[in-house]
Amino acid sequence: MSDKPKVPVAVLISGRGSNMGALIAASLHRDFPAKIVSVISDKPNAKGLDHARGFGIEAVAIPRTDYASKAEHEAAVIAAIDASGAKIIALAGYMRLLSGDFVNRYVGRMINIHPSLLPAFPGLATHERALAAGCRVHGCTVHFVTEGMDEGPIIEQEPVRIERGDTPDTLAARVLEAEHRIYPVALAMLARGEIRMTSDGRAQYSGS
Ligand code: GAR
Repeated sequence: MSDKPKVPVAVLISGRGSNMGALIAASLHRDFPAKIVSVISDKPNAKGLDHARGFGIEAVAIPRTDYASKAEHEAAVIAAIDASGAKIIALAGYMRLLSGDFVNRYVGRMINIHPSLLPAFPGLATHERALAAGCRVHGCTVHFVTEGMDEGPIIEQEPVRIERGDTPDTLAARVLEAEHRIYPVALAMLARGEIRMTSDGRAQYSGS
């Protein structure tokens, strides 16, 4: 059992928020080293907002359409993150490309979950593309966020075998289960200081 203070985390979502839910569920365990203090969505109707509120977590929508420019929208998101006191930012299906300024502000403290075994299949429609490429193995990745989309140093991955007859939907469902397993593990490693991003952009495990 640990009595160390939990590291405050902001989770950014755009929709369903099932990975956010996995992080919240993990954070409720006494020994988990992080707590979710804020959930921010760029979509006002994101299902995850109500789910987070159900746990008493502050959850706000900051719609892109309320702002004249991407820079103003990002400034509002940054203000909300910083007001929450979050030290780690977890992107969980946040479907906006972040500017270099945004990324660099939180470098080494911002992580993302992606539904493929990076560096294979960055971007969208990963399950369709893995099937079309004839892959036998697919999976998911948690990585530090850097300026290049889905390019940051890898923290954790889980492979998922592709079965005969898989469709993008059946494959996505099994990958999502793996996402829910690895995202809390990766967040815990970062919150405990077991992994960090080096100045030359590598993920370094303590002791390595
Ligand atoms: C997840 O599969 C996540 O990996 C993906 O969006 C989904 C969000 O689901 N993210 C990306 O594709 C980012 N490039 P969720 O809202 O239920 O967590």
